Amino acid sequence: MTDTSVGIDAVEIHAGKLKLDLAETFAPAMGDDPGKYTKGLGLYASSLPDTYEDIVTMGANAAHRLMERKGLEPEDIGRIDVATESAFDHSKPVSTYIAGCLEQVFEGDFHHANKGERKFACVSGTQSVDDAYNWIRAGRNRGRAALVVATDTALYARDDPGEATQGAGAVAMLIDEDPDFVELSTEQGYGSADETDFLKPQQQFPSVDGKRSVNVYLARMREALVDYESVGGDIHPDDFRLGPFHTPFPGMVRKAAVLAYRHITRDTEIEEELAEEIGRQPRPEAFDDEEAYTEALGEYTDALKDTDHYQGWYDRTIDPTLDLSREVGNWYTGSVHVARVSGIRSLVEDGEDAEGEKLLVGSYGSGAQAEIHVETIQENYESEIEALNVDEQLAARYDLSFDEYEDVHDAHNFDEETSVEEFTAPDGEFVFDGWGRMGERKYRYVE
Ligand code: COA
Repeated sequence: MTDTSVGIDAVEIHAGKLKLDLAETFAPAMGDDPGKYTKGLGLYASSLPDTYEDIVTMGANAAHRLMERKGLEPEDIGRIDVATESAFDHSKPVSTYIAGCLEQVFEGDFHHANKGERKFACVSGTQSVDDAYNWIRAGRNRGRAALVVATDTALYARDDPGEATQGAGAVAMLIDEDPDFVELSTEQGYGSADETDFLKPQQQFPSVDGKRSVNVYLARMREALVDYESVGGDIHPDDFRLGPFHTPFPGMVRKAAVLAYRHITRDTEIEEELAEEIGRQPRPEAFDDEEAYTEALGEYTDALKDTDHYQGWYDRTIDPTLDLSREVGNWYTGSVHVARVSGIRSLVEDGEDAEGEKLLVGSYGSGAQAEIHVETIQENYESEIEALNVDEQLAARYDLSFDEYEDVHDAHNFDEETSVEEFTAPDGEFVFDGWGRMGERKYRYVE
């Protein structure tokens, strides 16, 4: 096993090219107050795929840009892992399709590269990063880097409560030794249980118990935090500059953040400082029954939310990680990786010297599993952020009317015969090019 520094060397984001404005377009059509989306869920827009886009094109486009920017050839990549919960084949992995796309534009091939596909709802993006980390730390990479692509079309059935949280996009990450962006640490915490909150049994749009999934997220995340502390030591709020968490919608992270803050301030000087204002945190031993304790804990948490201490921490540590999510919605496997970029980007925008700062990263997948680990921002983080063109991508999206949205939503339900015209013109990117004789999907690069 090597002891070299391993982490995310570079990252690229590809957003679906259509936009559904939640306040202007979705809310009026649904007969809802726009505040439900913008304030309640914390979302302004969803990024959706045009008719020629899917998980392969978005993933390949992100990976293509990443490889070009870093001056990489296929021979530099020893492993391609795709994380997705929107796969369209039970056998042939999406990574083979993405490698096939990349071979259309690069010299050489990926025949030497180990390829796979990871599934565990939204947490599989982080699991793929872990696999790459372990492969490199084990010394099996022969000097090569790993390409991890988290790509999803996160569409819900029409009229499902999750419809407002939809999104589509891909995040490509290069995992390598001596990374330019963030270094990963060895310690991890898990909270994992057999849960029935969100699943896709042989269907493209999920079956969701939305309210339950919120509670399962909180319960598993708490377990992961406690498990992390058993190996990484107690966490103090000042230890971390940012807390990028899985963001199905920003309101979810708002709920998780206050619980996390309560947990990590327990038995610290912050709890003492807050005691005058809102009392000390309830302790179970002071209560006769579980119900009374839970009620007191809820009251304390509500009061904590309104304190300057908490608000200051939230605004500095959590809020910046949600900026991109507000504009794109849920990207499932890519979501926590978008949150990381969003947070670090805000530090660059503020001109802060963030080298060496730590991130507390919380990933989550329904079904259900949470994972917590720590990352350290590396020397070249600024140039990695400045190389991104995500703002230009978001500004260039086609703004759908509600009728157009309905058509494009139908077209992405595994529909082989779609008559929906494309809304944007592909330019320098991979596109879906129809079905082959064995039911395979075909792709082409458009100059
Ligand atoms: N102004 C401000 N806030 C408003 C509002 C308004 N006009 N109308 C509603 N809200 C608030 C609600 O109070 C609620 O906030 P709270 O949870 O802090 O109380 C929030 O907006 C959402 O409203 P709600 O009525 O709970 O929405 P919903 O039941 O239609 O859908 C989910 C919420 C989470 C169930 C739904 O989005 C979902 O199923 N999502 C997919 C699953 C998911 O992402 N799970 C998360 C774990 S992975």
